[in-house]
Amino acid sequence: MEERIISGSRLEDDQTFELNLRPRVLKEYIGQQHVKDNLAIAIAATRSRSEAMDHVLLFGPPGLGKTTLATVIANELGVGLKPTSGPVIQIKGDLTAILTNLKEHDVLFIDEIHRLQPQIEEILYPAMEDFKLDLIIGQGPSARSVTLSLPKFTLIGATTRAGMITAPLRSRFGIVHRLDFYSDQELKIILKRSAAILEIQIDDSGAEEIARRSRGTPRVANRLLRRVRDYAQVKADGVITLAVANDCLAMLAIDGHGFEEMDKKLLRTIIEKFSGGPVGINTIAAAISEEVEAIEDIYEPFLIQKGFLHRTPRGRVATRLAYEHLGCPMVPGQMNLI
Ligand SMILES: Nc1ncnc2c1ncn2[C@@H]1O[C@H](COP(=O)(O)OP(=O)(O)O)[C@@H](O)[C@H]1O
Ligand SMILES: [Mg+2]
Repeated sequence: MEERIISGSRLEDDQTFELNLRPRVLKEYIGQQHVKDNLAIAIAATRSRSEAMDHVLLFGPPGLGKTTLATVIANELGVGLKPTSGPVIQIKGDLTAILTNLKEHDVLFIDEIHRLQPQIEEILYPAMEDFKLDLIIGQGPSARSVTLSLPKFTLIGATTRAGMITAPLRSRFGIVHRLDFYSDQELKIILKRSAAILEIQIDDSGAEEIARRSRGTPRVANRLLRRVRDYAQVKADGVITLAVANDCLAMLAIDGHGFEEMDKKLLRTIIEKFSGGPVGINTIAAAISEEVEAIEDIYEPFLIQKGFLHRTPRGRVATRLAYEHLGCPMVPGQMNLI
């Protein structure tokens, strides 16, 4: 997964780079207006009552700003943030330690919360609902259970897979928001903001071109900005213009829609090997030698949103747009076309 430039997931060298670019307060957080409006009210109300805020569940494809939003919420509430993630919490003791170390009204951020193990998830239920922790002390016949009171805290959970959150966990979140892909206009604002922070010179048409090819994803936009900056420094005089952006993105094999080779391979496979679908995700994954998870997280959401791919109960179907984009002839009378 490491090499995918259009991947919304975080790559190794994004980390330090992202630190500077990450918005810290709601005002700096571009787009997602509906989510921001709702959160702003919840935050203001919480502050006026000096309480812990209701638990928040954020979902959406990688790179759309879930982690950023969690830090923004903690900053706006003026409380501490303890970040962790589902796969990191291996044993019950890990979560117990985290919970008992929270301070009153802190935000506990659990990334990839759908990957919590079931027996660990169960600890969260009473913790979220009653701020209680049930512990078993000792072993064998002398074992006894004690209930600890926890400080009132806010859990913010993030996931790329809303469908994989269990019903009991989901029902304990008072605030649930889905982050959507960003518009080209919003990505342009994000790119100009990032360019200003990194002291990169970029003109409007350059920013618009990168925005258009960033798959609606801020992380991808920032990553492409960095690539185009390198290109501009080496091949041009350091200024990102439309021509520079175009040349660099062509070199990176990212087309006008932000698609790269794997997107096209995926669509082409469905069209050529499976007559346009419907075809199951496992079959597609095997045919293009890609992991199911990568297809579902990285490629598919954007292709579906753009109308190139359709998800049906019987499998994935390539749409008319996909045929047109790839220049594949449509077989007359094909019934599965949408
Ligand atoms: N709304 C936004 N406004 C500006 N920049 C954003 C926004 N959302 C995300 N970003 C940028 O994209 C990067 C990735 O966001 P992140 O919160 O890590 O995504 P996620 O946790 O959903 O994978 C951040 O470092 C930040 O620079
Ligand atoms: Mg994240």
